[in-house]
Amino acid sequence: MGKMTGKVALVTGGAGGIGASVGRMIVDEGGKVMLCDIQIDKAEALAAQLGENAEAFELDVRDFDRWQAAVTAVTDQFGKLNVLCNIAGISEPGNVPDGPMDSWDRTIDINLNGPYYGMRAALPVMEANGEPGAVVNIGSMIAMRAAAFVAAYSASKAGLLGLTRSVALDCAERGVPIRANMVHPGAIRTPMYERYKYSGADTPENIETNFAATHPMNRIGEPEEVAKAVVFLASDEASFTTGCDFTVDGGGSIRS
Ligand SMILES: NC(=O)c1ccc[n+]([C@@H]2O[C@H](COP(=O)([O-])OP(=O)(O)OC[C@H]3O[C@@H](n4cnc5c(N)ncnc54)[C@H](O)[C@@H]3O)[C@@H](O)[C@H]2O)c1
Repeated sequence: MGKMTGKVALVTGGAGGIGASVGRMIVDEGGKVMLCDIQIDKAEALAAQLGENAEAFELDVRDFDRWQAAVTAVTDQFGKLNVLCNIAGISEPGNVPDGPMDSWDRTIDINLNGPYYGMRAALPVMEANGEPGAVVNIGSMIAMRAAAFVAAYSASKAGLLGLTRSVALDCAERGVPIRANMVHPGAIRTPMYERYKYSGADTPENIETNFAATHPMNRIGEPEEVAKAVVFLASDEASFTTGCDFTVDGGGSIRS
């Protein structure tokens, strides 16, 4: 029996990077998953690879109506919903005086409003089935230690941290068996990281060395290392854990 046996999950950002890794691990651990993403072709290809316990659904996390349709699609397909993993996110450079204002709006919309809409759409359905449930939101090392060149990203992830803790408290105090936790990755080798590495900001080798050096373990992480933490928190193995910050950052957030 796997950690996710009997669990049905909705994963955003499920077409690639950390979200795809989480989707794959949920199925490997005996669960069922709806992979939600704007990149529907990639999400469908992964779902086909994973077999009958995975489906794909086209979702832009900025659209609350689509969120409600996604939750309905999960319950129609798999009969219930136990786990919500808010993983879709973007990172764009910019400080407050000079960063483009549309980048601020886009980042807050996807990274903070998206998970809010998701929890708003999913929590009533998760609560209604009465089974233990879990929300896992993806933050960042940057939620714990701000970085000057990504103002909107820092704000969105720090905001999501407060939102996750509020949901954790609300569920616990109302006696609802749903936990809400956060996983904070450091630099992880995904398409997001590769885009930055080859953006021309510096040579790819220097970018890798500099990113690695911000982590005391002096390396970049792998998506599977984040997925293991997400799946643990999503599973009943984490039954007394709610409102926590689970870092997967090679010690990056505790460096002085
Ligand atoms: N890779 C890193 O170094 C790193 C570090 C810290 C935190 N994170 C966080 O981890 C999460 C996943 O990042 P990743 O590295 O896998 O990124 P990625 O770019 O590789 O994958 C993100 C996925 O989200 C999807 N997505 C983007 N906008 C969307 C939208 N509006 N609606 C639905 N889906 C959308 C993309 O299509 C993509 O499949 C993000 O929240 C990111 O902020 C990543």
